[in-house]
Amino acid sequence: MSATVVVGCQYGDEGKGKIVDLMSRSMDWVARFQGGANAGHTVVIGRKTYVLHLVPSGILHPKTKCVIGHGVVVDPIELLKEIQMLREKDIELDGRLFLSDCAHVILPYHKWLESLDAHDVRVGTTKRGIGPAYEQKYARTGIRVYEFIDPDRFRQRLQEHGEVLERVFRGAGVEPPQPIDRAIEEWVDEYSKVADQIRGFVSETMTLLGDAWRRGEKILCEGAQGTLLDVDMGTYPFVTSSTTTAAGAASGLGLPPSAIRKVVGICKAYATRVGEGPFTSELLGSEAEALREQGGEYGATTGRPRRVGWLDLVALRHAVRVNGIQSLVLTKLDVLSGRTTVPVVIAYDGPNGRMTIPPRDPRALDACRPVIEERPGWSDDLSKVRRYPDLPEAVRDYVEWVGEQVECPVGIVSVGSGRNQVIRVPRSRSQVTAPA
Ligand code: IMP
Repeated sequence: MSATVVVGCQYGDEGKGKIVDLMSRSMDWVARFQGGANAGHTVVIGRKTYVLHLVPSGILHPKTKCVIGHGVVVDPIELLKEIQMLREKDIELDGRLFLSDCAHVILPYHKWLESLDAHDVRVGTTKRGIGPAYEQKYARTGIRVYEFIDPDRFRQRLQEHGEVLERVFRGAGVEPPQPIDRAIEEWVDEYSKVADQIRGFVSETMTLLGDAWRRGEKILCEGAQGTLLDVDMGTYPFVTSSTTTAAGAASGLGLPPSAIRKVVGICKAYATRVGEGPFTSELLGSEAEALREQGGEYGATTGRPRRVGWLDLVALRHAVRVNGIQSLVLTKLDVLSGRTTVPVVIAYDGPNGRMTIPPRDPRALDACRPVIEERPGWSDDLSKVRRYPDLPEAVRDYVEWVGEQVECPVGIVSVGSGRNQVIRVPRSRSQVTAPA
C-alpha cells in the first residue's frame, strides 16, 4: 500500500485538520512530518472542539495510530498538555501515539533566542521557538528526544548550551530573562518530570512506519502550515523553517519518496495569512474586516487576526505544481455566500508582463499587481448542503472553474467546520487532465 500526503496550498490555516480527520477514518497511520506547535489544527466533532498543535488529528479515530515524526520540532510541555487534554476527553493514547526518538526538542531558550533575533521578529513568527530549534538542528547542536529522556545526557547537553547562551546574550549586550545557570537547574528539574510522562510514547518511528508501509498498511502524512510558508518553495524569507510541501513527508518521516502515491492539497475558497510577508491578493479596510468576521479568521495558535484576501490562482497553480497535487479540497465555500460576485486573482501583472506562476524574488513579487476576475456569486446558505447536485449552479461553476484554471480537479468541498459538512465532487465534474 502507499502513503498519501495532505498539504496546505496557501499560507496555512486552510482547514487541513478537518480533512485529515475525514481521511483518517480509512487509514492505519497518520503521521506529522514537520513544524511544531506553531500549527493549530481545529476539528469539530458534535459539540466538542479539539485544537491540536502536535498530535496528528487522526488520534480522534479510535483505530488509527499516530506518529510525530523526526521532522517535527517538539515542545515537550505543549505535547504533555495535549496528551492531558486528549485523556480528559477520553481519547485512548497508549499504543496509538508514537513520538520519534530523533525529533528535536524545543526548550525555553529557543523562545529567548527568537525574541533576541531581529529577523524572527520581522517575520512575525508564532514565537514558539520553531526557527531557533531548526537552526540548531541544522547546526548539528540540537537536542533530540533520545537525549531529552535520558536525565544525565539531558543535563550535559543543557550545560553545553548554557555556555553558548551566555556568549550569545553577552555578545548582544542583553540580559537573559533569567540567570542562565539557575535556569538550567530549573529546566533539569522541571523537564525531567515532563520526560517521565512522555517516555512511554517514544519510539523508533522510522522503522515503525517503514515496516507498516512494507506490510501494506495505509499511511496518511499530515503537513502543517502551507506551501507558501515552505522554507524553499514559499515566500522566502517570510516563511517557516521547514519543508511544508509534499517532499518533506519523506524526509520528515524516513519513508522512501517512492512510497508517496497520492498528494491532496487543501485550499481555502479565499486566502488568509498570519505574520508578515507578501500577500498579493490581500484585502484591506472594511472589506477585509467583513471577510475576517464571516470566516472567523483568528489564529488557532496565537489568536492573532489573520490577514485576508481573495483566492489566488497564481499561488495555487504553484502549489499544485511543486507538490504534484492530484486532488484539491476547497474549504470554507460557505463563507463566500451572499456576494453578487466572487473576485479571484487569475494572474499577476509585473514589470516584465503578465505572469501565471509567481516570481521567486520577493522584490519582484512586491512589484506585482493582481489581475482579478469577478465570478458569479451566490446567496444561498451552503452549510446544510450534502450532495454536489444540490449546490447552487454558481457554486458548482466556481468549483469546476478553479480546477480547470490550475489543472487539478477539486475532489471535495467543505461547507462548515462540522465533521459531516463535506461534499464529494462527482468524478465526471471534477475531471481535469493533469500532466501525465
Ligand atoms: P514560525 O513558524 O513560528 O517560525 O513563523 C514563521 C511564519 O510562519 C510566520 O509568518 C507565522 O505567522 C507563519 N506560521 C507558522 N505556523 C503557521 C500556521 O500554522 N498557520 C499560519 N501561519 C503560520
